[in-house]
Amino acid sequence: MRETLNMSTCRTLGLALAVGLLTAGAAAAGYEDCLVCHTGGVLGDPRMDVDEARYGASIHGLIGISCTDCHSALAGVTDFPHEPSGRPDCSMCHADASEAIERAAHRSGTPDAPNCWTCHGGHDVAPVSDEASRVAPLNQPSTCLACHADASLAGAHGMQVREPGEAFELSVHYQALKEGNPAAPTCTTCHGAHDNLSHNDPASPIARANVADTCGMCHGDVGEKFARGVHGTELAAGDPNVPTCTGCHAEHAIRAHDDPASPVFAANIARTCSHCHDDETLTAQYGLASARMRTFMGSFHGVANRFGQITVANCASCHGAHDILPSTNAHSRIHPSNLQATCGSCHPQAGANFATGKIHVQDTREDNFWAWLVKRLYLTMISGVIGMFAIFIAVDLWWRWRTGRSEGRSA
Ligand code: HEC
Ligand code: HEC
Ligand code: HEC
Ligand code: HEC
Ligand code: HEC
Ligand code: HEC
Ligand code: HEC
Ligand code: HEC
Ligand code: HEC
Ligand code: HEC
Ligand code: HEC
Repeated sequence: MRETLNMSTCRTLGLALAVGLLTAGAAAAGYEDCLVCHTGGVLGDPRMDVDEARYGASIHGLIGISCTDCHSALAGVTDFPHEPSGRPDCSMCHADASEAIERAAHRSGTPDAPNCWTCHGGHDVAPVSDEASRVAPLNQPSTCLACHADASLAGAHGMQVREPGEAFELSVHYQALKEGNPAAPTCTTCHGAHDNLSHNDPASPIARANVADTCGMCHGDVGEKFARGVHGTELAAGDPNVPTCTGCHAEHAIRAHDDPASPVFAANIARTCSHCHDDETLTAQYGLASARMRTFMGSFHGVANRFGQITVANCASCHGAHDILPSTNAHSRIHPSNLQATCGSCHPQAGANFATGKIHVQDTREDNFWAWLVKRLYLTMISGVIGMFAIFIAVDLWWRWRTGRSEGRSA
């Protein structure tokens, strides 16, 4: 009969027990029977003592389930002391959670994976809504990071960690949780509580194709812009090289854009975009304009940016952050017809001519003939001078050596 109990009968049973509708004796008997040996140091091992006050205050103590509901191997045992009791079992009443776990990363049988009680406790299970619960939003990081801050565990299980596990605690999200913002995400908002899946599983909320939707649950406006931009469109088409949200913001240590440690802080954006846009292999593969970082850093804006002036233009001021489009697209901020408006947002006096100059000026012959020519002349001149100097020194040394030898011989 036990096996056929489901959550709702358990719930009813629990509530029924709580209000004392069942004969108190039937349920209390098991409890009292067990406590004959399992309290007050009877067995001489403190670990074998059940802390009655703590157990009584737990959700299960409050609703009065029996010891053997969890220690199910001992149900019906009358001969004491008993045989080893085996693993406790929560699945009888929490089939949903147990089944979800068996389909996911923490399934039983996986070495190092948590049990129900690693995350919830055994005799002190609290309702999820209780702030003191191990799984309450603010406490999840320490519960999960007990294992997930361990780099060797991540390595042993092939989990991708590009940042330390504690990174989440540095994030704007954790900060918001601490300030009591109930809209901020915690571990299980993005990963699920029982159905945690690897990023390799296409059904996972953190699979590459799903990350933007996962963030978009709360950042819907950004999600929509991103989907319209070149990175978002290409991501949807399965391109493995374009960034999704985490490519620019990180996975866990996501910070506010005005935090100087954020990869999207005005002074850091150029470096963030340039991971890809200065990568010669990648730009060649896509036929993209390359050397964006170098050409930006050489510009007025780039120089000022390097000296910490954050009001000058950075990559995102001219290209946008989420709805970036190629210059050939008429909606692009850098389409020739929109450039005046783009520059004009900071240079109100900018006329049509102001924006016609090339922004990413490369010293190539096609891009800027004079810069190219001057550089060529300069290089030729320098190598000429150094070459002549080297020849002069060599001849001089040779002459000294020869005259030295003939003087030695004649002496
Ligand atoms: C007559 C004494 C006695 C009674 C009554 C008793 N136990 Fe035990 N229990 C023991 C002893 C002895 C051990 C082994 C202690 C050790 O290994 O140090 C034990 C161990 C356990 C363990 C630890 C795991 C294991 O099996 O070794 C659990 C869980 C447990 N008992 C549950 C219960 C429950 C539930 C009841 C009530 C149905 C109960 N016990 C009744 C004596 C008793
Ligand atoms: C909600 C389920 C649940 C109920 C109800 C419950 N237990 Fe436990 N019990 C557990 C879990 C889970 C553990 C921890 C097992 C572990 O760490 O391996 C545990 C551990 C124990 C241990 C110590 C075993 C050890 O190896 O340290 C004893 C003894 C024990 N329980 C006895 C009892 C007794 C007596 C009762 C009734 C008063 C009871 N339990 C009620 C789930 C339960
Ligand atoms: C990796 C940690 C972890 C493990 C392992 C785990 N849980 Fe949970 N569980 C959570 C978290 C976190 C929540 C809260 C979810 C939320 O806030 O939505 C939760 C919620 C619950 C709830 C409340 C209702 C619900 O489903 O949201 C129940 C009941 C529950 N867990 C039972 C179990 C049982 C039974 C097991 C073992 C089969 C288990 N849990 C294993 C972390 C865990
Ligand atoms: C005999 C049935 C039974 C067993 C066995 C059982 N529970 Fe429960 N559990 C309940 C009932 C009933 C509730 C109260 C449900 C409610 O109020 O929604 C509950 C509540 C919970 C909650 C809080 C859910 C919430 O909504 O906040 C968690 C977490 C939980 N149990 C975890 C466990 C774990 C872990 C185990 C095994 C160690 C376990 N339970 C074993 C019946 C059981
Ligand atoms: C007792 C240690 C432990 C705890 C606590 C724990 N985990 Fe895990 N977790 C693991 C192990 C081990 C794996 C790897 C399982 C495998 O090899 O598939 C894993 C896998 C995962 C994965 C999938 C990654 C992958 O590549 O398989 C996610 C996501 C995850 N855990 C999230 C969480 C969250 C969220 C929590 C807290 C609610 C949590 N874990 C608590 C040990 C733990
Ligand atoms: C805002 C959403 C979000 C939150 C909150 C979050 N994560 Fe993640 N997590 C991700 C994303 C996205 C990935 C990256 C997947 C990738 O790039 O491969 C990830 C990766 C992981 C992985 C590696 C999974 C794998 O498959 O390799 C683990 C483990 C993990 N997170 C645990 C946690 C823990 C523990 C917490 C809470 C302290 C947490 N995460 C909070 C979104 C989140
Ligand atoms: C190509 C890099 C890049 C990608 C990909 C990216 N972002 Fe951003 N994000 C930025 C930059 C740069 C800023 C700062 C914009 C600024 O300074 O005006 C920013 C700002 C933000 C902000 C705060 C300001 C605002 O506009 O609300 C949020 C929230 C945000 N991003 C979320 C996301 C989400 C969600 C995704 C995925 C759907 C995403 N980002 C993808 C670069 C990126
Ligand atoms: C459950 C909702 C939720 C999810 C999911 C979520 N966020 Fe957030 N996020 C928030 C909230 C709430 C804040 C605001 C914190 C504050 O300003 O106090 C925030 C803040 C941010 C900021 C800083 C905004 C700023 O002003 O600069 C960025 C960037 C950000 N989130 C990116 C992401 C990314 C990337 C993901 C996915 C990996 C994500 N978020 C998932 C709720 C969420
Ligand atoms: C993870 C690598 C990566 C990051 C980071 C990245 N991009 Fe890209 N970006 C690409 C790839 C790959 C393409 C080419 C997509 C295609 O055309 O298929 C692209 C396309 C573009 C294009 C269109 C170019 C064209 O000629 O079609 C612009 C403009 C652009 N990115 C600007 C930016 C800016 C600005 C940032 C930073 C805010 C940035 N990107 C960050 C990989 C990246
Ligand atoms: C002051 C505005 C401005 C800034 C700052 C800027 N760009 Fe540009 N970018 C442009 C304009 C205008 C074009 C198109 C004409 C050209 O190539 O000079 C362009 C072209 C590009 C292209 C080729 C896109 C295409 O469709 O032709 C990429 C890729 C690019 N920029 C990336 C970046 C990156 C990465 C940064 C930061 C390191 C950056 N840009 C900084 C204005 C800017
Ligand atoms: C985010 C704001 C911003 C945007 C967008 C922007 N600039 Fe600037 N730019 C500045 C600031 C600030 C300075 C420094 C002004 C000063 O100190 O006088 C500057 C300086 C310059 C200078 C150097 C001297 C000067 O003051 O005239 C040129 C040339 C220039 N910008 C061209 C452009 C062009 C062309 C565009 C559009 C493709 C553009 N800028 C877009 C903020 C911006």
